[in-house]
Amino acid sequence: MKARIAGAEINYDVQGDGPALLLLHGFPCDLTTWQPQVEALASAWRVVRFDARGFGASPPGDGALTMERIADDAAGLLDHLDLGQAVFIGLSMGGYAGFAFVRRHAERLRGLVLTNTRALPDDPEARRRRAELAEQVRQRGVEAAAEAFLPKVVGDTTRRDNPALVERLRATMLGASRQGVIDALAGLAARADSRPTLREIAVPTLVISADEDGISPPDEARAMQAAIPGSRVAILPRAGHMSNLENPAAWNAAVLAFLRELR
Ligand code: MLT
Repeated sequence: MKARIAGAEINYDVQGDGPALLLLHGFPCDLTTWQPQVEALASAWRVVRFDARGFGASPPGDGALTMERIADDAAGLLDHLDLGQAVFIGLSMGGYAGFAFVRRHAERLRGLVLTNTRALPDDPEARRRRAELAEQVRQRGVEAAAEAFLPKVVGDTTRRDNPALVERLRATMLGASRQGVIDALAGLAARADSRPTLREIAVPTLVISADEDGISPPDEARAMQAAIPGSRVAILPRAGHMSNLENPAAWNAAVLAFLRELR
């Protein structure tokens, strides 16, 4: 389905009924990376997912895809669906957008799941690498981004035992638009330091990392949890950065337990 939000066409999907969950995918992926969660959560919740501008079936927007832009599109989608509040679930880039959502739309939050994400901004070296990758994407297309990210986003267990998942992720990444990837790299590089936001989070929060995640490792998740009042943390086994896909049983169990308490 498509919604017109702040001048952009946003592709989204809604499954199930009940209180709303709003799922935000990572870079450079799309809403299909939440499929195992739709199956697990939609019997008791209204599961809303959308493609960030330039990913999946949402065309690119206009300029850098900032985390604030994604957060505002998320709030716009809640308006479009006439939903007052939702539990916001963001993976990696989706989590960065979650911090922006806390700063800009806190009244729309019923709870928060920050999965495989980090509060730290890019350092100068990371910004340089993003600019370099954006140039490669400009020249060679989104293959350059898939080549750069695929080896980093899955853990050793997945690489060894689940090559089919790696291939599915490659196909997803190749489905992003060139301009969307370039715009998101600019937005990721420019994102704010969200550490000061952590203590402002006033809703029940679950922080998730996984023991093979080298991008947003367990220690950073524990540090975030310690800074978010009343939050909890789950470190999942046998998974890397895409923990919801690599170990969906453990991810779904942790989130379902959290959501049950929230209700
Ligand atoms: C993601 O999964 O969204 C990316 O790893 C985020 C990033 O590159 O910082």
